[in-house]
Amino acid sequence: LQALAGRIRPGFRLGAAVALGPLASDPDYGRVLVGNFGAITPENAMKAQNISPQQGVYTFGEADAILAVAESKGLAVHGHTIAFTEAMPRWMQDLPAGTDAERRSSATALLDYVSAVVTHFKGRLDSLDVVNEPFDTDQGTGLQENIWYRVFGPGYPAAVSRAVYDADPDVKQYINENGADVPGPRQDALLRLALDTNARGGHIYGVGLQAHVYNLETDAIPARDLARTLRTFQDAGLLVRISENDVVDDDGTEAQAQQYAAVVETCLRSSACVSYTTWGVDNRYDWLIDDDGSLQQGHDYLFENGQPTAPYHAVRKV
Ligand code: XIL
Repeated sequence: LQALAGRIRPGFRLGAAVALGPLASDPDYGRVLVGNFGAITPENAMKAQNISPQQGVYTFGEADAILAVAESKGLAVHGHTIAFTEAMPRWMQDLPAGTDAERRSSATALLDYVSAVVTHFKGRLDSLDVVNEPFDTDQGTGLQENIWYRVFGPGYPAAVSRAVYDADPDVKQYINENGADVPGPRQDALLRLALDTNARGGHIYGVGLQAHVYNLETDAIPARDLARTLRTFQDAGLLVRISENDVVDDDGTEAQAQQYAAVVETCLRSSACVSYTTWGVDNRYDWLIDDDGSLQQGHDYLFENGQPTAPYHAVRKV
């Protein structure tokens, strides 16, 4: 797949979210990954809850192991993620923010975290989600009032962005969000947030549109709407990555395969869309499989047990 995409758009990389477990244990997984993709996003390994169990303590082993594989295979790496409400360790969530003095000391703790992490990965990431899923709920347009917000205020993305820039001016910074893939209030809010962040001295290069399609009937992403979206961000001077595309469908329908193809094709054909990443490699390691092994929702990645699926074949034809 990567070679096909490179022929349509020289230099364009197709990516996949990657976990160390299957990468280390399943030869099919590595073969499919290296044979079809030119970039990876560590699925969980760089999240704060996984790399900083205690304040000032860092456990980079899993992320480093994934990066070592990527580097040895020539895969570009997108970092995921610095400020993300859902994936914070306890100590971070519990930082005090009641008084000015508390906010000052917590700001130092948070900025130390950013600096330590970005310095550790410096030079090895092409791009990075500095803020992930900033907005309330699935449809919301207001910022979640997480610890970053409570410490730095509504301009917190700029504080994070500046700290990332200070540690690594070369990594391309993104704000990544779901449910902003088609025109509407949430997309408007994401655009405003990115521009506002830069107006406050941030260094945001573009936005990540997650493009998770959990329900083909209610939240499909029509190619036309996505194309319009890409133009909107481009006109505002921002680039777009399709960052986490996957399409849930119980039955493996043609509509599902076509939805994948529509997103890949629209991105490939727009200079505003810098890369496309799908949120997983193989149905065997579906992120919507519960710990007890049951599937919460039907799903279909581009591969199943190392073999191409219908979405793969649809993407090949773009
Ligand atoms: C998901 C991972 O895929 C799961 O393994 C983990 O249990 C929860 O997080 N949006 C994001 C990703 O930005 O970080 C999420 O990843 C999927 C939704």
